[in-house]
Amino acid sequence: LKIIHYFIIFSNNKYMKKLLFIFIFLYLLLIFYGCNKKVLSPLETFIENNNINESEIYPYLQYKRFVFYDFFKLEKTRKENNYTYLETVNYYYTYNIHDPLLINSNLILVNKNHFLNKDYKPNLICIDDYPVKKVKYDMYIKLEVLLSYLQMINDLQLFNLYIYSAYRSYDRQIEIYNNSNNPNYVAIPGSSEHQTGLALDVATLDSGLTIHFKNTHEYDLLKNNCMNYGFIIRYPENMQSLTGYNFEPWHLRYVGRESSIYIMNNNLTLEQFVYKNFEL
Ligand code: DAL
Ligand code: ZN
Repeated sequence: LKIIHYFIIFSNNKYMKKLLFIFIFLYLLLIFYGCNKKVLSPLETFIENNNINESEIYPYLQYKRFVFYDFFKLEKTRKENNYTYLETVNYYYTYNIHDPLLINSNLILVNKNHFLNKDYKPNLICIDDYPVKKVKYDMYIKLEVLLSYLQMINDLQLFNLYIYSAYRSYDRQIEIYNNSNNPNYVAIPGSSEHQTGLALDVATLDSGLTIHFKNTHEYDLLKNNCMNYGFIIRYPENMQSLTGYNFEPWHLRYVGRESSIYIMNNNLTLEQFVYKNFEL
């Protein structure tokens, strides 16, 4: 109250009144200037400071995962690989250890960069209950995969084809991994797509799971027709730099019919297809 009292006395004083007006005027001027000054967003500042042509960065801005500070690294990736902007964004932001991509679909991407949780377990059925050739009992797979597989072996008369491996739990993959010393063929636990219940290792009894399977009539039939049943050859020849694994003619992966036809007819890996077609 005292302050207000002094203020009233001051403002009644002639000189003080003038001073007060000057203060108020300066204050309003400041506010006016502040409002009209253009405040640059962090993105605009980045563009200005780095002399970036807006049209160069604009295509990236439509993608949720794009972080503009990464612009130069992304441009390098895009130009080196001749990628589209979408492929660049997907590739750049997935080339690290992450969760699987497209986890709730048949296109789920599990690889050396995308790991499943050790508790991940899909709905499975026991293969023993179905008329299919296999090298051992007690194997499990997703129902949709087995039904497509059955259709395929019947249509193509693939009666010498045996299932060697289907769903593998995280713990089972630990055993396999510990007994193997070749990371070009065996996935680290969590990174095997056998854990998704969508992968099958198949071969003839003569070839077994070896490169000799490639030279069989059965492999020829599979390679030319598996896409019509939703399967792809997941680790094709000469694609190691993209899949992370050597050629495995025996490893089939179910992705669904539409995608399998596109992938196989265009000689793609699942990695390329996923990076190319989905914003992740
Ligand atoms: N052989 C494949 C890569 C796996 O272990 O899942
Ligand atoms: Zn396999």
